[in-house]
Amino acid sequence: MTSLLNSHSLLIAPEKSNLELQILGGYPLQGEVRISGAKNSALVVTAGALLCPDDCCIRHVPSLLDMTWMGQILSSLGVKWEKHGDVLDINASHISQSAAPSELVGRLRASFFLIGPLLARLGVAQVPLPGGCAIGARPVELHIRGLQAMGADVQIKQGIVHACISGNKRRLQGARIYLDFPSVGATETLIMAATLAEGETMIQNAAQEPEVVDLANFCRTMGAKIQGAGTKTIAISGVPSLHSAEYSIIPDRIEAGTFLLAGAITHSQLSVAPVNPQHLIGVIDTLRALGAAIFADASNRLRIVPKQQHVAIAIETAPYPGFPTDLQAQLMAILALSQGSSIISETIFENRLQHVTELNRMGADIRVRRSHAIIRGVSQLTGTEVVGTDLRASAALALAGLAADGITSLKGLHHLDRGYENFEQKLQQVGAKIQRVQSQAESGKEPVFSTLHG
Ligand code: EPZ
Repeated sequence: MTSLLNSHSLLIAPEKSNLELQILGGYPLQGEVRISGAKNSALVVTAGALLCPDDCCIRHVPSLLDMTWMGQILSSLGVKWEKHGDVLDINASHISQSAAPSELVGRLRASFFLIGPLLARLGVAQVPLPGGCAIGARPVELHIRGLQAMGADVQIKQGIVHACISGNKRRLQGARIYLDFPSVGATETLIMAATLAEGETMIQNAAQEPEVVDLANFCRTMGAKIQGAGTKTIAISGVPSLHSAEYSIIPDRIEAGTFLLAGAITHSQLSVAPVNPQHLIGVIDTLRALGAAIFADASNRLRIVPKQQHVAIAIETAPYPGFPTDLQAQLMAILALSQGSSIISETIFENRLQHVTELNRMGADIRVRRSHAIIRGVSQLTGTEVVGTDLRASAALALAGLAADGITSLKGLHHLDRGYENFEQKLQQVGAKIQRVQSQAESGKEPVFSTLHG
């Protein structure tokens, strides 16, 4: 397979960046944080645009590293990709390649979403296995088994997934598929593949996340016939082709939850908008269990009024509508300062507790026992140098820095920039003392903030 990228100039190496966030803790926040379009919708919806041989216009697309990489991957396949602010014009009328470039797929797990649309459109696809990441092995056998049930012949050779429609069939065939686990990605892959299949597909034990519903709604805007998205059973009637569409991505519920938790940890009244409160039911219930009050000031605005002292809770992450794994690290930062001992059980990913080490370096008292974190609340965290190990761990450490005594230097910003648009700017706008600076160790400069408050 020839590389589709003949120059590494297209590759961004942000992990080489020597920038860090410096955060001076102890400042209350105030005001409203503007929420961007959902990363985990935008990535799969843009992959879904491959199903359409015509112009699509997608709005509320956040400017994130992951979206830049997705744009590079789709452009290397011959797709027209033009982003102006948060509006993306995309046209997949001429897909010149069925092979996604290894270098980029390795960076962006979400590029595995290409396999369903490429197979459905072209009848063939070569996509490298996405491989694992900091939070787990991230296998894709549920995606592959579902595609095989729809008549795809799938071989994995040297880390590349080679898929083609077997026999003399020109289209994938509708099938009844049961997912052993309600995998978000597998549900989305199979929805996309089924939109152009021959006949009816039923996905049972499907993921119910809002991002799955967003993808289904986008596909329906292109003319797909999909019923039941958002429930455990999704039925898709295949159609011969899809047509041009305009679509707006839902607000990012994980970003919104992150900033509500920023209000909680700094004991500040903070609003977030636009949001869909329905997408945050599990998060709102948890914040109320902590002792905070949550108000829906408008249909698309939430406001947190925290207590001066949060109480300890026991919680486990769960598929939607349960408490989302993508807010587990951020919640842990708040529980590190709550009164009493809390327990967080991570049930979705096998290795998503790495932020415990870094929080303990800030003075937290957290022990890990298999997939459970026992968090004994302390009265104070102390700023120090910390490193984010994944996207949400980085956000959690920033939240801890907002409440810590002194200055926190947070490295590993390439993780943060993958999933949060203008993270520090949004916090600055509500009063946080946070700056992106040259790494102090490299520059030898004094911290941006003096430890003296004021
Ligand atoms: C999506 O990942 C999100 N990413 C993740 O967000 C999110 O944490 C996750 O869903 C769960 O909500 C995107 O949408 C781009 P899964 P995905 O398939 O699709 C296992 C973030 O921080 N599994 O629901 O990969 C898997 O190993 C990111 O924004 C299999 O065993 O999640 C994991 O343990 C992180 N076999 C569990 O299921 C499979 O074939 C959940 O995975 C597929 C998954």
